[in-house]
Amino acid sequence: MRKLIVNKVSTPGKIILSGEHAVVYGYPAIATAINLRLTATRAGKIESDIPIGAGMGSSAAFAVAISAFKVGELNFEKINNHAYKLEKDLHGNPSGVDNTIVTYGGFLWYRKETEDFKTFKQIESKAKLPKLFLLNSGKPQESTKEMVSFVAGLYKRKKKATEEIFRQIEGVTKGFLRLLLDDDNFELGELIKNNEKLLERLGVVSDNTKQIIKIIEKEGGSAKISGAGGIKDGSGMVIVYHKDIKKISLIAKKYNFGLSPVKLGEEGLRIEK
Ligand code: PMV
Repeated sequence: MRKLIVNKVSTPGKIILSGEHAVVYGYPAIATAINLRLTATRAGKIESDIPIGAGMGSSAAFAVAISAFKVGELNFEKINNHAYKLEKDLHGNPSGVDNTIVTYGGFLWYRKETEDFKTFKQIESKAKLPKLFLLNSGKPQESTKEMVSFVAGLYKRKKKATEEIFRQIEGVTKGFLRLLLDDDNFELGELIKNNEKLLERLGVVSDNTKQIIKIIEKEGGSAKISGAGGIKDGSGMVIVYHKDIKKISLIAKKYNFGLSPVKLGEEGLRIEK
């Protein structure tokens, strides 16, 4: 294995297309690396474009970068495992999807079978993906750890109903997989809408964010939170899609929404010169 002689690495942010929260309970998720990156040097000065606490993997990007120096060789498996331990210290019971997508990049099908056995595979997307946009619904007051505990409480109190939501989320996640593999029976807008409705049923989307998403739907688009979400105030970054791309700038203007394009399927951990 090549020794990590370089002193600088960069790691991407991520978005979860489908499967957040359900993935903590062994259901699959699809995540993708995006074109916002964190750069870290061994000496410890860190720069990052990834917004903190917005569901875009800022902590995983940091954990993977630090782990790359710690492991000291370009062994993605070791680096990913080390980053998972750091994520556990921070988040308590993470699924590991964040650190894994940040390490490997691209599009990833991910499933945590048990604590020590996680399966994942790169999805070689055959589909020409439509453009997605990001809208910041505001920093959540709750941490990822708190949101994961919130769902754990729900699961404890209403196991059957929560399992049913997870099963339906799994159905949507499989729809995303088929779409990425170029099955035109699946429509991105519908998948995003269905995913959002299920996350709302889990209770991880705030009223403010639901309002924003309703407006986008009224204008013919679709939107979903991505990541842990938030209840009291903002719910982090929202993924927005509209069939008619010209409508995006009209919506942004009409409602004063900051909507920025995002590139998907980007590179994971990278050694920088
Ligand atoms: O920290 P976030 O907002 O990227 O959320 C992580 C995704 C969850 O499914 C909510 C938690 C996990 O560990 O998978």
